[in-house]
Amino acid sequence: MDFKKLKRCTFAIISHPDAGKTTMTEKILWYGGVIHKVGMVKSKTGDFATSDWMELEKQRGISITSSVMSFAYQDRLMHLLDTPGHKDFSEDTYRTLTAVESVLMMIDSAKGVEAQTIKLMEVCRMRNAPMATFMNKLDRESLTPLDLIENVEKICSIHCTPITWPIGFGSDFKGIYHLYEDKIILFTKEKNPQDHKIIPAENLKNKELPALLGEAGFNQLKEDVEFIRDAIEPFSLDDYLAGVQTPVFFGTALYNFGVQELMQFLGPNAPAPSACEAITLDKELKPLSTRMVAPEEEAFSGFVFKVQANMDKKHRDRISFLRICSGEFKRNDKVFHVRTQKEVRIATPVFFVSRDREIMEEAYPGDIVGINGAYQIGDTFTLKENIVFTGIPSFAPEIFMKVTLKDPLKAKHLEKGLLQLSEEGAVQLFKRQINGDKILGAVGALQFDVVKFRLTDEYNVRADYEGLPFKGIRWPKFPSEKRQQEFSIQYAASVLFDHKGRFVVSFQDSWELKMMEEKNKDVHFYNNSDYR
Ligand code: G4P
Repeated sequence: MDFKKLKRCTFAIISHPDAGKTTMTEKILWYGGVIHKVGMVKSKTGDFATSDWMELEKQRGISITSSVMSFAYQDRLMHLLDTPGHKDFSEDTYRTLTAVESVLMMIDSAKGVEAQTIKLMEVCRMRNAPMATFMNKLDRESLTPLDLIENVEKICSIHCTPITWPIGFGSDFKGIYHLYEDKIILFTKEKNPQDHKIIPAENLKNKELPALLGEAGFNQLKEDVEFIRDAIEPFSLDDYLAGVQTPVFFGTALYNFGVQELMQFLGPNAPAPSACEAITLDKELKPLSTRMVAPEEEAFSGFVFKVQANMDKKHRDRISFLRICSGEFKRNDKVFHVRTQKEVRIATPVFFVSRDREIMEEAYPGDIVGINGAYQIGDTFTLKENIVFTGIPSFAPEIFMKVTLKDPLKAKHLEKGLLQLSEEGAVQLFKRQINGDKILGAVGALQFDVVKFRLTDEYNVRADYEGLPFKGIRWPKFPSEKRQQEFSIQYAASVLFDHKGRFVVSFQDSWELKMMEEKNKDVHFYNNSDYR
């Protein structure tokens, strides 16, 4: 297959655990021809257990790490970036979202938008990422479709426009009506869409419909469609691409029903790689200005959005996931690593085609390439230009722990381990201004478990971990250096530095943060390291 000719579509699924993300991933991969047998993604021990890399994952039976699945669909090369389902690893998900052009939001139709989806939505909103929505599990008791739409509009502040519409739900689920193709697809539990019966609806005038859908189902459908055509804005490609309107699909991922319509939408409409914002730097790596790097630019550029250690335990490897932003990337090309200002040759880049890793010969904007080496999240590669891509921020952690060594002779091991784990993004590392204490920050407690496990397992370090009463941190931006100095004296005990040496302030509760903000109105307090 000539991959060069295929337009890229790089996307991720966001959802609350149990909404059906894994089931949907499996079906999408089925459409992409990657898997031929249902049940391969779900199986934690089967062929397709891509996320079984870490011992701890196996012990806990949870999926912590995220991966990339690439496949051809229509004239696109799709890259589906998997995200961890467990909320304690949402930082990993946030960063993965910086590398995609669009997202698919999965909703359990009995529950509507749930807590974790709201958080992830906020990250998508920061970037106005186009979003399609799939209302799942219609084969069970559900909220009404209009309630679901209202729920999404209210919570996610986005306009919904249905592309398909359900006829009944639960044991009365009869099928879906395609509002733009004017056809009805009757629900059966056959998982191959070729076995689904399709009826031309003739603007709902087809005389067969009342018998096929039942009088009540048919009348409800007529009423709903009248309302939709009257009161809901029709689909607009521009609004979808601008991230202000989400096309909505209904169905059940379990029975592969309604998924085909979603795929047929994504094929032609999901956004192609777009321009990425970068900061241009001078020779001392001080910021000069910002510029948009367009995918059409000839010179190669890309950034690391994720680092994954131990994909292959035997080789103790560390793979960095590089998202290509512009130009062409060829195996063995020399590229410029901006942070170290060094040229590097990337000899064994890998591509995650189907379910294998393959050596990649060339890659194009939108592609995700795995590279070996001690790279960090946010590292930028170019041909020669001194730029760094923005939009790969650290997000404010919510729980904090102080680490102290049990064996002082292992100080170097601890230093190395913590630095590497923070570069990988497994945890955030801070240093306290007043005493140099090492403080770890995480979004969820499980993240600490992983760090503790890996420090012992990989770095042979035994340490004590003591919970700290901080509730959060902010990255402040000061109007002048003088103000920063005054602030760091006044709030000396609360000042920390992150692993990149950026000034950070901690607080014990929301009241303390509020007071800090009120007393320092000229300072902006950001909850991410991108200061936005
Ligand atoms: P997640 O990755 O978002 O956490 O969800 P996952 O796909 O694992 O789905 C969670 C549960 O919901 C699974 O059931 C799955 O089979 C079920 N499910 C997903 N989509 C549908 C759907 O459209 N209809 C119905 N009825 N169920 C659906 P489980 O009992 O936890 O696992 P399993 O024993 O079925 O594998």
